[in-house]
Amino acid sequence: MPLLDLHRQYETIGHEVLAAITRVCDSQAFILGPEVEALEREIAALTGSAAAVGCASGTEALWLALVAAGVKPGDSVITTAFSFFASASAIVRAGATPILVDVDPGTLNLDAAHVIRHLRRNATGGTHNKPAGIVSAILPVHLYGQCADMDAFAKIAEEFNVAIVEDAAQAIGAEWHRRGAGSLGVTAAFSFYPTKNLSAYGDAGIVATMHPEMAEHMRRLRNHGSPRRYYHDEFGWNGRMDAIQAAVLRVKLPHIASWNEARRQHAALYDRLFTGAGLTSASSAQPSSPSSRPCTAPVRLLARDPNATHVFHQYVIRVQRRDDLRQFLADRKIGTEIYYPLPLHLQPVFSYLGLKEGGLPVAERAAKEVLALPMFPELTEPEIRRVVESIADFYT
Ligand SMILES: Cc1ncc(COP(=O)(O)O)c(C=O)c1O
Repeated sequence: MPLLDLHRQYETIGHEVLAAITRVCDSQAFILGPEVEALEREIAALTGSAAAVGCASGTEALWLALVAAGVKPGDSVITTAFSFFASASAIVRAGATPILVDVDPGTLNLDAAHVIRHLRRNATGGTHNKPAGIVSAILPVHLYGQCADMDAFAKIAEEFNVAIVEDAAQAIGAEWHRRGAGSLGVTAAFSFYPTKNLSAYGDAGIVATMHPEMAEHMRRLRNHGSPRRYYHDEFGWNGRMDAIQAAVLRVKLPHIASWNEARRQHAALYDRLFTGAGLTSASSAQPSSPSSRPCTAPVRLLARDPNATHVFHQYVIRVQRRDDLRQFLADRKIGTEIYYPLPLHLQPVFSYLGLKEGGLPVAERAAKEVLALPMFPELTEPEIRRVVESIADFYT
Protein backbone atom coordinates (compact mmCIF):
# COMPACT_ATOMS: atom_id res chain seq x y z
CA MET A 1 0.00 0.00 0.00
CA PRO A 2 1.72 3.18 -1.16
CA LEU A 3 1.55 6.52 0.61
CA LEU A 4 -0.32 7.80 -2.45
CA ASP A 5 -1.75 5.74 -5.31
CA LEU A 6 -2.53 7.97 -8.29
CA HIS A 7 -3.35 4.95 -10.48
CA ARG A 8 -6.67 4.53 -8.73
CA GLN A 9 -7.69 8.09 -9.58
CA TYR A 10 -6.52 7.62 -13.16
CA GLU A 11 -8.70 4.53 -13.50
CA THR A 12 -11.79 6.62 -12.75
CA ILE A 13 -11.09 9.80 -14.73
CA GLY A 14 -8.34 8.77 -17.17
CA HIS A 15 -10.61 8.87 -20.23
CA GLU A 16 -11.71 12.44 -19.42
CA VAL A 17 -8.12 13.53 -18.83
CA LEU A 18 -7.02 12.10 -22.17
CA ALA A 19 -9.92 13.83 -23.92
CA ALA A 20 -8.91 17.15 -22.32
CA ILE A 21 -5.29 16.71 -23.40
CA THR A 22 -6.47 15.87 -26.92
CA ARG A 23 -8.55 19.05 -26.91
CA VAL A 24 -5.43 21.11 -26.22
CA CYS A 25 -3.43 19.21 -28.84
CA ASP A 26 -6.18 19.85 -31.37
CA SER A 27 -6.04 23.57 -30.57
CA GLN A 28 -2.21 23.65 -30.82
CA ALA A 29 -2.29 26.44 -28.17
CA PHE A 30 0.04 25.23 -25.44
CA ILE A 31 0.88 28.20 -23.20
CA LEU A 32 -1.73 30.23 -21.24
CA GLY A 33 -4.83 30.81 -23.41
CA PRO A 34 -8.48 29.85 -22.83
CA GLU A 35 -7.86 26.70 -20.75
CA VAL A 36 -5.69 28.61 -18.27
CA GLU A 37 -8.12 31.54 -18.16
CA ALA A 38 -11.03 29.18 -17.46
CA LEU A 39 -9.06 27.46 -14.69
CA GLU A 40 -8.21 30.85 -13.19
CA ARG A 41 -11.91 31.75 -12.99
CA GLU A 42 -12.81 28.37 -11.51
CA ILE A 43 -10.09 28.52 -8.83
CA ALA A 44 -11.06 32.10 -7.93
CA ALA A 45 -14.64 30.88 -7.43
CA LEU A 46 -13.54 27.84 -5.39
CA THR A 47 -11.31 29.84 -3.07
CA GLY A 48 -13.61 32.86 -2.82
CA SER A 49 -10.85 35.17 -4.03
CA ALA A 50 -11.23 38.04 -6.50
CA ALA A 51 -8.86 36.58 -9.09
CA ALA A 52 -6.36 33.81 -9.71
CA VAL A 53 -3.29 33.70 -11.94
CA GLY A 54 -2.03 30.39 -13.29
CA CYS A 55 1.71 29.82 -13.23
CA ALA A 56 4.41 27.21 -13.64
CA SER A 57 4.62 25.75 -10.11
CA GLY A 58 3.80 26.35 -6.48
CA THR A 59 7.29 27.73 -5.99
CA GLU A 60 6.74 30.24 -8.77
CA ALA A 61 3.35 31.07 -7.23
CA LEU A 62 5.04 31.88 -3.91
CA TRP A 63 7.48 34.25 -5.58
CA LEU A 64 4.66 35.99 -7.47
CA ALA A 65 2.57 36.22 -4.30
CA LEU A 66 5.43 37.77 -2.31
CA VAL A 67 6.42 40.33 -4.95
CA ALA A 68 2.81 41.35 -5.65
CA ALA A 69 2.23 41.75 -1.90
CA GLY A 70 5.01 44.35 -1.87
CA VAL A 71 8.05 42.40 -0.67
CA LYS A 72 11.14 44.19 -1.93
CA PRO A 73 14.85 43.33 -2.03
CA GLY A 74 16.32 44.01 1.41
CA ASP A 75 13.05 43.33 3.30
CA SER A 76 12.50 40.50 5.76
CA VAL A 77 9.65 37.99 5.69
CA ILE A 78 8.69 35.87 8.69
CA THR A 79 7.80 32.25 8.03
CA THR A 80 7.79 28.83 9.64
CA ALA A 81 10.90 26.73 10.07
CA PHE A 82 8.81 23.59 9.54
CA SER A 83 7.75 23.50 5.91
CA PHE A 84 8.88 22.54 2.46
CA PHE A 85 12.03 24.38 1.35
CA ALA A 86 10.18 26.59 -1.17
CA SER A 87 8.36 28.46 1.62
CA ALA A 88 11.68 30.04 2.52
CA SER A 89 13.58 29.88 -0.79
CA ALA A 90 10.85 31.92 -2.52
CA ILE A 91 11.54 34.68 0.03
CA VAL A 92 15.21 34.62 -0.93
CA ARG A 93 14.27 34.72 -4.61
CA ALA A 94 12.24 37.87 -3.90
CA GLY A 95 15.48 39.40 -2.59
CA ALA A 96 14.37 39.30 1.04
CA THR A 97 15.67 37.57 4.17
CA PRO A 98 13.59 34.77 5.66
CA ILE A 99 13.09 35.02 9.40
CA LEU A 100 12.41 31.46 10.49
CA VAL A 101 10.40 31.04 13.68
CA ASP A 102 9.06 28.11 15.64
CA VAL A 103 5.73 26.34 15.28
CA ASP A 104 2.73 25.60 17.44
CA PRO A 105 3.33 22.28 19.24
CA GLY A 106 -0.22 21.07 18.57
CA THR A 107 -0.77 21.87 14.89
CA LEU A 108 2.87 22.39 13.80
CA ASN A 109 1.71 25.53 11.98
CA LEU A 110 3.53 28.86 12.32
CA ASP A 111 3.11 30.04 15.91
CA ALA A 112 1.59 33.54 15.93
CA ALA A 113 2.93 34.21 19.45
CA HIS A 114 6.51 33.79 18.21
CA VAL A 115 5.78 36.05 15.26
CA ILE A 116 4.46 38.78 17.57
CA ARG A 117 7.49 38.43 19.83
CA HIS A 118 9.77 38.87 16.86
CA LEU A 119 7.87 41.90 15.53
CA ARG A 120 7.91 43.61 18.95
CA ARG A 121 11.63 42.98 19.31
CA ASN A 122 12.17 44.34 15.82
CA ALA A 123 10.12 47.45 16.61
CA THR A 124 12.25 48.22 19.65
CA GLY A 125 15.56 48.00 17.83
CA GLY A 126 15.91 44.24 17.86
CA THR A 127 18.26 41.86 19.54
CA HIS A 128 19.21 39.95 16.43
CA ASN A 129 22.87 39.57 15.73
CA LYS A 130 22.24 39.97 12.01
CA PRO A 131 20.78 43.24 10.76
CA ALA A 132 17.67 42.54 8.69
CA GLY A 133 15.41 44.82 6.68
CA ILE A 134 11.90 45.80 7.64
CA VAL A 135 9.44 42.97 7.96
CA SER A 136 7.07 43.54 5.05
CA ALA A 137 5.20 40.23 5.08
CA ILE A 138 4.34 37.14 7.11
CA LEU A 139 4.09 33.83 5.26
CA PRO A 140 2.03 31.29 7.21
CA VAL A 141 1.93 27.80 5.65
CA HIS A 142 -1.29 25.77 5.89
CA LEU A 143 0.68 22.67 6.78
CA TYR A 144 -0.68 19.26 5.75
CA GLY A 145 -3.93 20.96 4.62
CA GLN A 146 -4.96 22.72 7.84
CA CYS A 147 -5.09 26.51 7.91
CA ALA A 148 -2.73 28.32 10.25
CA ASP A 149 -4.37 30.56 12.87
CA MET A 150 -5.54 33.21 10.43
CA ASP A 151 -7.43 35.18 13.13
CA ALA A 152 -4.13 35.81 14.86
CA PHE A 153 -2.37 36.68 11.60
CA ALA A 154 -5.14 39.12 10.61
CA LYS A 155 -4.60 40.94 13.92
CA ILE A 156 -0.85 40.95 13.35
CA ALA A 157 -1.34 42.40 9.85
CA GLU A 158 -3.33 45.27 11.29
CA GLU A 159 -1.15 46.01 14.30
CA PHE A 160 2.21 45.81 12.52
CA ASN A 161 1.18 46.85 9.01
CA VAL A 162 2.53 43.74 7.31
CA ALA A 163 1.09 41.77 4.40
CA ILE A 164 -0.11 38.22 5.01
CA VAL A 165 0.86 35.91 2.16
CA GLU A 166 -0.62 32.43 2.43
CA ASP A 167 1.42 29.40 1.45
CA ALA A 168 -1.64 27.33 0.58
CA ALA A 169 0.34 24.86 -1.52
CA GLN A 170 -1.06 21.94 0.50
CA ALA A 171 -4.48 23.40 1.18
CA ILE A 172 -6.71 23.64 -1.89
CA GLY A 173 -10.31 23.55 -0.64
CA ALA A 174 -9.33 24.12 3.00
CA GLU A 175 -11.27 26.72 4.98
CA TRP A 176 -10.91 28.99 7.97
CA HIS A 177 -14.25 29.98 9.54
CA ARG A 178 -15.78 28.68 6.28
CA ARG A 179 -13.70 31.09 4.19
CA GLY A 180 -11.51 29.49 1.59
CA ALA A 181 -7.75 29.24 1.91
CA GLY A 182 -6.49 31.64 -0.71
CA SER A 183 -8.90 34.40 0.32
CA LEU A 184 -7.47 34.92 3.81
CA GLY A 185 -4.42 37.04 3.09
CA VAL A 186 -3.31 39.62 0.58
CA THR A 187 -2.10 36.95 -1.85
CA ALA A 188 -1.88 33.16 -1.70
CA ALA A 189 0.08 30.45 -3.50
CA PHE A 190 -1.18 26.99 -4.45
CA SER A 191 0.76 24.06 -5.89
CA PHE A 192 -0.63 21.49 -8.32
CA TYR A 193 2.41 19.23 -8.04
CA PRO A 194 1.30 15.66 -8.89
CA THR A 195 1.06 14.55 -5.25
CA LYS A 196 -1.19 17.44 -4.19
CA ASN A 197 -4.94 17.05 -3.50
CA LEU A 198 -5.63 18.77 -6.84
CA SER A 199 -2.79 17.66 -9.05
CA ALA A 200 -1.54 18.31 -12.55
CA TYR A 201 0.29 15.94 -14.91
CA GLY A 202 3.50 17.85 -14.37
CA ASP A 203 4.41 21.06 -12.58
CA ALA A 204 1.83 23.83 -12.17
CA GLY A 205 0.66 26.36 -9.59
CA ILE A 206 -1.68 29.28 -9.14
CA VAL A 207 -1.80 32.50 -7.15
CA ALA A 208 -5.05 33.82 -5.69
CA THR A 209 -5.71 37.31 -4.42
CA MET A 210 -8.49 39.53 -3.13
CA HIS A 211 -6.92 42.47 -4.99
CA PRO A 212 -7.54 42.69 -8.76
CA GLU A 213 -4.61 45.10 -9.26
CA MET A 214 -2.25 42.58 -7.65
CA ALA A 215 -3.62 39.91 -9.99
CA GLU A 216 -2.76 42.13 -12.94
CA HIS A 217 0.73 42.67 -11.55
CA MET A 218 1.23 38.91 -11.20
CA ARG A 219 -0.01 38.35 -14.76
CA ARG A 220 2.76 40.65 -15.95
CA LEU A 221 5.40 39.20 -13.64
CA ARG A 222 4.75 35.60 -14.79
CA ASN A 223 5.34 36.78 -18.36
CA HIS A 224 8.67 38.65 -18.15
CA GLY A 225 7.10 41.77 -16.63
CA SER A 226 5.47 42.40 -19.96
CA PRO A 227 2.16 44.32 -20.20
CA ARG A 228 2.13 43.65 -23.95
CA ARG A 229 4.28 41.51 -26.17
CA TYR A 230 7.93 42.60 -26.35
CA TYR A 231 7.47 45.62 -24.07
CA HIS A 232 8.83 45.26 -20.53
CA ASP A 233 8.16 47.63 -17.61
CA GLU A 234 9.90 45.58 -14.91
CA PHE A 235 11.83 42.36 -14.46
CA GLY A 236 9.62 39.33 -14.41
CA TRP A 237 10.31 35.78 -15.42
CA ASN A 238 8.87 32.96 -17.48
CA GLY A 239 6.45 31.57 -14.93
CA ARG A 240 3.59 30.73 -17.29
CA MET A 241 1.25 27.77 -17.01
CA ASP A 242 0.89 25.14 -19.74
CA ALA A 243 -2.57 24.78 -21.29
CA ILE A 244 -2.34 20.97 -20.97
CA GLN A 245 -1.92 21.28 -17.19
CA ALA A 246 -4.90 23.64 -16.97
CA ALA A 247 -7.03 21.25 -19.03
CA VAL A 248 -6.11 18.30 -16.76
CA LEU A 249 -6.80 20.34 -13.63
CA ARG A 250 -10.21 21.40 -14.97
CA VAL A 251 -11.20 17.74 -15.31
CA LYS A 252 -10.28 17.13 -11.68
CA LEU A 253 -11.63 20.34 -10.15
CA PRO A 254 -15.31 19.24 -9.96
CA HIS A 255 -14.17 16.29 -7.82
CA ILE A 256 -12.08 18.21 -5.31
CA ALA A 257 -14.86 18.70 -2.72
CA SER A 258 -15.74 14.99 -2.60
CA TRP A 259 -12.09 13.94 -2.68
CA ASN A 260 -11.33 16.25 0.26
CA GLU A 261 -14.37 14.91 2.11
CA ALA A 262 -13.14 11.34 1.56
CA ARG A 263 -9.76 12.37 3.01
CA ARG A 264 -11.49 13.82 6.09
CA GLN A 265 -13.39 10.58 6.61
CA HIS A 266 -10.23 8.53 6.31
CA ALA A 267 -8.57 10.81 8.88
CA ALA A 268 -11.51 10.40 11.27
CA LEU A 269 -11.24 6.62 10.91
CA TYR A 270 -7.49 6.69 11.55
CA ASP A 271 -8.13 8.83 14.67
CA ARG A 272 -10.79 6.45 15.99
CA LEU A 273 -8.70 3.35 15.35
CA PHE A 274 -5.59 4.78 16.99
CA THR A 275 -7.58 5.81 20.03
CA GLY A 276 -9.51 2.52 20.14
CA ALA A 277 -6.26 0.54 19.96
CA GLY A 278 -5.01 2.40 23.02
CA LEU A 279 -2.05 3.75 21.08
CA THR A 280 -2.81 7.34 21.87
CA SER A 281 -4.60 9.29 24.55
CA ALA A 282 -8.18 10.12 23.54
CA SER A 283 -7.61 13.84 23.92
CA SER A 284 -4.49 14.20 21.83
CA ALA A 285 -6.35 15.47 18.74
CA GLN A 286 -7.93 18.31 20.70
CA PRO A 287 -6.41 21.74 20.13
CA SER A 288 -6.34 22.41 23.86
CA SER A 289 -3.89 19.58 24.49
CA PRO A 290 -0.47 20.85 23.48
CA SER A 291 1.67 17.98 22.27
CA SER A 292 4.64 19.33 24.20
CA ARG A 293 3.11 17.93 27.40
CA PRO A 294 4.97 14.79 28.53
CA CYS A 295 3.17 11.90 26.95
CA THR A 296 3.82 8.20 27.24
CA ALA A 297 1.47 7.06 24.45
CA PRO A 298 3.53 5.86 21.47
CA VAL A 299 1.37 7.77 18.98
CA ARG A 300 0.24 11.37 19.15
CA LEU A 301 -2.29 12.89 16.78
CA LEU A 302 -1.81 16.47 15.68
CA ALA A 303 -4.20 19.09 17.03
CA ARG A 304 -7.20 20.01 14.89
CA ASP A 305 -8.20 23.64 15.05
CA PRO A 306 -12.01 23.89 15.35
CA ASN A 307 -11.97 27.00 13.11
CA ALA A 308 -10.28 25.09 10.31
CA THR A 309 -11.76 22.75 7.73
CA HIS A 310 -8.83 20.42 7.16
CA VAL A 311 -8.26 18.81 3.75
CA PHE A 312 -5.69 16.26 4.96
CA HIS A 313 -3.20 16.65 2.18
CA GLN A 314 -1.23 14.47 4.57
CA TYR A 315 -2.33 12.45 7.57
CA VAL A 316 0.60 12.87 9.95
CA ILE A 317 1.15 11.38 13.38
CA ARG A 318 3.98 11.84 15.87
CA VAL A 319 5.52 8.64 17.10
CA GLN A 320 8.19 7.21 19.32
CA ARG A 321 11.04 5.29 17.59
CA ARG A 322 9.89 6.79 14.30
CA ASP A 323 12.61 5.44 12.02
CA ASP A 324 12.28 1.85 13.31
CA LEU A 325 8.50 2.03 12.88
CA ARG A 326 8.95 3.33 9.34
CA GLN A 327 11.19 0.37 8.45
CA PHE A 328 8.74 -2.05 10.08
CA LEU A 329 5.92 -0.65 7.95
CA ALA A 330 8.07 -0.70 4.81
CA ASP A 331 8.75 -4.41 5.44
CA ARG A 332 4.97 -4.86 5.39
CA LYS A 333 4.79 -2.89 2.13
CA ILE A 334 3.11 0.12 3.76
CA GLY A 335 4.41 3.40 2.37
CA THR A 336 5.14 6.34 4.69
CA GLU A 337 7.04 9.61 4.37
CA ILE A 338 8.66 12.18 6.63
CA TYR A 339 7.52 15.76 6.09
CA TYR A 340 10.06 17.14 7.02
CA PRO A 341 13.19 15.46 8.38
CA LEU A 342 15.28 18.64 8.81
CA PRO A 343 13.77 22.02 9.76
CA LEU A 344 14.62 24.89 7.46
CA HIS A 345 16.86 26.74 9.95
CA LEU A 346 19.17 23.69 10.09
CA GLN A 347 19.46 23.35 6.30
CA PRO A 348 23.08 24.09 5.36
CA VAL A 349 21.98 26.69 2.81
CA PHE A 350 20.34 28.75 5.56
CA SER A 351 23.33 28.69 7.92
CA TYR A 352 23.86 32.37 7.06
CA LEU A 353 20.73 33.17 9.07
CA GLY A 354 22.70 32.30 12.21
CA LEU A 355 20.22 29.90 13.84
CA LYS A 356 21.70 26.87 15.58
CA GLU A 357 20.41 23.50 16.76
CA GLY A 358 18.25 24.05 19.85
CA GLY A 359 17.12 27.44 18.51
CA LEU A 360 13.66 26.31 17.41
CA PRO A 361 12.97 23.31 19.64
CA VAL A 362 9.36 22.56 18.65
CA ALA A 363 10.21 22.29 14.95
CA GLU A 364 13.33 20.27 15.74
CA ARG A 365 11.43 17.79 17.85
CA ALA A 366 8.64 17.48 15.26
CA ALA A 367 11.23 16.68 12.59
CA LYS A 368 12.31 13.66 14.66
CA GLU A 369 8.77 12.41 15.32
CA VAL A 370 6.46 13.06 12.36
CA LEU A 371 5.33 10.28 10.07
CA ALA A 372 2.85 10.62 7.17
CA LEU A 373 0.65 7.57 6.62
CA PRO A 374 -1.14 6.48 3.44
CA MET A 375 -3.74 9.10 2.53
CA PHE A 376 -5.68 9.52 -0.72
CA PRO A 377 -9.40 9.55 -1.50
CA GLU A 378 -9.53 6.03 -2.90
CA LEU A 379 -7.95 4.46 0.20
CA THR A 380 -10.20 1.75 1.67
CA GLU A 381 -11.30 1.04 5.21
CA PRO A 382 -9.52 -2.36 5.32
CA GLU A 383 -6.31 -0.63 4.23
CA ILE A 384 -6.57 1.96 7.00
CA ARG A 385 -7.25 -0.83 9.50
CA ARG A 386 -4.16 -2.68 8.28
CA VAL A 387 -1.98 0.42 8.78
CA VAL A 388 -3.20 0.93 12.35
CA GLU A 389 -2.98 -2.79 13.19
CA SER A 390 0.58 -2.88 11.89
CA ILE A 391 1.51 0.12 14.04
CA ALA A 392 -0.13 -1.61 17.04
CA ASP A 393 1.91 -4.75 16.27
CA PHE A 394 5.10 -2.69 16.26
CA TYR A 395 4.46 -1.20 19.69
CA THR A 396 3.37 -4.45 21.36
C1 LIG B 1 4.23 24.06 1.67
C2 LIG B 1 4.70 24.07 0.25
N1 LIG B 1 5.10 25.22 -0.29
C3 LIG B 1 5.51 25.30 -1.57
C4 LIG B 1 5.56 24.19 -2.38
C5 LIG B 1 6.11 24.30 -3.76
O1 LIG B 1 5.25 23.83 -4.76
P1 LIG B 1 5.83 23.22 -6.10
O2 LIG B 1 6.45 21.90 -5.81
O3 LIG B 1 4.62 23.11 -6.99
O4 LIG B 1 6.82 24.20 -6.66
C6 LIG B 1 5.11 22.95 -1.87
C7 LIG B 1 5.06 21.74 -2.68
O5 LIG B 1 5.87 20.92 -2.79
C8 LIG B 1 4.71 22.88 -0.50
O6 LIG B 1 4.33 21.74 0.04
